[in-house]
Amino acid sequence: MPEKILVPRGTKDILPDEIPRWLGIETTSRKILKNFGYKEIRTPFFEETSLFKRSLGQTSDVVTKQLLELVSQKEDGGFALRPEGTASIVRSYIENSLDKKESLSKLFYLGAMFRGERPQKGRLRQFHQIGVEAIGPGSSFPYLDAEVIALSANLLRAFGLDNFTVHLNTLGTSSDKANFSKLLQKQLKPQLRNLCENCQDRFERNVLRILDCKNRECKAIVDKLEIGDAYLSEESKTYFEKVQEALKSLNVAYVVSSKLVRGLDYYTHTVFEITHSGLGSQDALGAGGRYNDLVSQLGGPQVDAMGFALGVERILLALPEEAKDEGCLDLFIVSLDEALFQKAFQILNDLRAKGISCDISFRMSSMKSQMRQADKTKARYTMILGEDELKKGVVTFKNMKTGEQTQIKMDDTTKMTTLLLKQ
Ligand code: HAM
Repeated sequence: MPEKILVPRGTKDILPDEIPRWLGIETTSRKILKNFGYKEIRTPFFEETSLFKRSLGQTSDVVTKQLLELVSQKEDGGFALRPEGTASIVRSYIENSLDKKESLSKLFYLGAMFRGERPQKGRLRQFHQIGVEAIGPGSSFPYLDAEVIALSANLLRAFGLDNFTVHLNTLGTSSDKANFSKLLQKQLKPQLRNLCENCQDRFERNVLRILDCKNRECKAIVDKLEIGDAYLSEESKTYFEKVQEALKSLNVAYVVSSKLVRGLDYYTHTVFEITHSGLGSQDALGAGGRYNDLVSQLGGPQVDAMGFALGVERILLALPEEAKDEGCLDLFIVSLDEALFQKAFQILNDLRAKGISCDISFRMSSMKSQMRQADKTKARYTMILGEDELKKGVVTFKNMKTGEQTQIKMDDTTKMTTLLLKQ
């Protein structure tokens, strides 16, 4: 037997049974994002590696451990699969001079992202994000931060989720962030030898990362830190207060988590993460924040920006099992023999032309086995064309949930459509 080739580790096939749920999420997202004034943008799946190095941070895990680089013959910096959407959107914003076209660009994207992580439940190497980025000069307005956070919560609620928590924090300006790093270094210095090897390295290179470390000893040390808000300037404190007031006015519940710093380097001011209790260790459904310096750091104008991304696979993991059958066929047709199949085939095509989703058994097996096939498709109705029906010139419709049966004249596809369109 030749060896089977399997799907690459950390990736998944999305099988036909699961597609309705994906489509549901995509359709709901598009509707809500349009209501909030966002327009879709699509960027390539890979970019120059330097884009990610310069935006996400040379010391971030995503860059040091998870970038999936493409092998290139040339001596250039090479290309990498996109690990997230923000860097690409900012690259495109600058390249296409979107700042000249509109004062605030409200962009959204839906698509696959790639990170070379160690796969586990809720952590994949190819996963999908629904993300938004609001970019424009002078867009640092606390109400916009609140609107973006409210939008992420609205999306999750519209997908059918409610047991989630919004964690909120502020990093302040880039100089506040530098103060934050100094404060942490001061507090952590006496414990340096007790930190894991990774965190000892992070201490100099990017001390904020230590707050995210999953190592038990590091976590215990981090838990004892008293952070406060002394590292923030008065302006940053006022800005954060206003964001919170705006969130309250929008009825968005949140908790302030002073140790939330996020794993990517581009954030300034507001940061947030949404967790779900049912998810286990990879419990973030989504996350985001403000990144006021990124556009200028990548060679663009000095404009402010704020965004988030939700992870679709994690949303699906957190969703209750029901609604899985959504999007199944309206009708499955079974017919006694080849002569009757011809009539059944004609009805099938008439009904499809009228917008009914239906299918038929293409195998002339027994009626019983065709009925089993109908059961498997989970169609709402089955139409039977057997001997009895032929004699009477009718077809029988069976409601697969209630078992109720109705007969309709063989040529009356209008009546059939009315029955099938009834919910
Ligand atoms: P992130 O926190 O790296 O942020 O990812 C956002 C979400 O993507 C996570 O909360 C999670 O749901 C999902 N996700 C991330 N990695 C994986 C993975 N390996 N497997 C499955 N799901 C995953 C960003 O990507 C930022 N670009 C968000 C943002 C937009 N900030 C501002 N604008």
